[in-house]
Amino acid sequence: MMEKDFLTSEYTSLKNKGKVRWKSPSNIALVKYWGKKKNQIPANPSISFTLDTCATDTKVSYQRLDEKTSGFSFDLFFEGVQKDDFRPKIETFFHRIETYLPFLREYHFKIETSNSFPHSSGIASSASGMSALALCLMSVEREFLPEMAENLFTKKASFLARLGSGSACRSIDGPLVQWGSHSAIEGSSDLFGIEYPYKTHEIFANFQDTILLVDEGQKQVSSTVGHDLMHGHPFAEQRFRQAYTHLSDFQTVLEDGNLKDFIKIVESEALTLHAMMMTSHPYFILMKPNTLEIINRIWSFRETSKTSVCFTLDAGANVHVLYPENEKETVYGFIKSELLQFCENRKHICDRTGSGAREQKN
Ligand code: DP6
Repeated sequence: MMEKDFLTSEYTSLKNKGKVRWKSPSNIALVKYWGKKKNQIPANPSISFTLDTCATDTKVSYQRLDEKTSGFSFDLFFEGVQKDDFRPKIETFFHRIETYLPFLREYHFKIETSNSFPHSSGIASSASGMSALALCLMSVEREFLPEMAENLFTKKASFLARLGSGSACRSIDGPLVQWGSHSAIEGSSDLFGIEYPYKTHEIFANFQDTILLVDEGQKQVSSTVGHDLMHGHPFAEQRFRQAYTHLSDFQTVLEDGNLKDFIKIVESEALTLHAMMMTSHPYFILMKPNTLEIINRIWSFRETSKTSVCFTLDAGANVHVLYPENEKETVYGFIKSELLQFCENRKHICDRTGSGAREQKN
């Protein structure tokens, strides 16, 4: 599918009002997206586990305006409270997607959204938030175009979500979503995420992700700024090539279920991401001392227990502890006894891989 396939020329019938609702999960990248070109095109392909528990629930009520607006007409409620500081992000999103959703200026939207996890804590709230909103807007469009094919609906939702936040395009499907052109992955595209199209080993079914909330504060550097710093970064080209190669190698790992190789790629990706932050200009560090404590404890425990526990990081201090379901008891026991002491008030979220966004009853 190409960009022009996401343009809508005419609607069958425009409704006066209605309400739609989607719950969309967060995702955790195994091969990371860090660096982008114009129009939210990733500098390298990435792949992620879709999560299950960490999600955003978004309701959109729409009401037809008497006449088209020059700006966009919407109200935004986050956890029941009107949130004006989120408006600019939505405005930017609407500007980016209006070409593809020509009804946007003809309606007033009431957007009500809530998260199952702390906002801006390093858990990708923009991924679940933007994908939930993109799906709601697609549901509105489908009400005006009831014959829309399912495949177009899903791909366009991912395409729009990408324009809100890159990683959001990987939250529509699950449990494994790949985004960004890669010669070895059929159907892969820079424009949207696709469900990983090949067979994966059963060890990856219900893979566990225990998220350790090391620092719940607002991040000092946003992902958007971080991506920008990859322009002119001394190691950028090499990093983009590395991600591409990691993704090729990952194909064998996913097929064979070789957790040793899985760990090598996943942990290297996490540390490379943070190495890019530490070597950009200006440089910055998002890990905290407790992040490093946790990493070191994971390494020692893996050695002594002979389990396959490993970690990954997003653009923040929190640690995602990954392990197969058959090691759940042992590893969660270790997390409770050794790792929770490094979290803010022992806070953590027990998550696992999930199957993607779901439409909700209003
Ligand atoms: C480190 O998707 O949040 O989580 O496109 O600017 O909204 P924008 O960035 P965003 O970046 C996520 C970066 C990451 C890695 C990843 O999810 O692949």
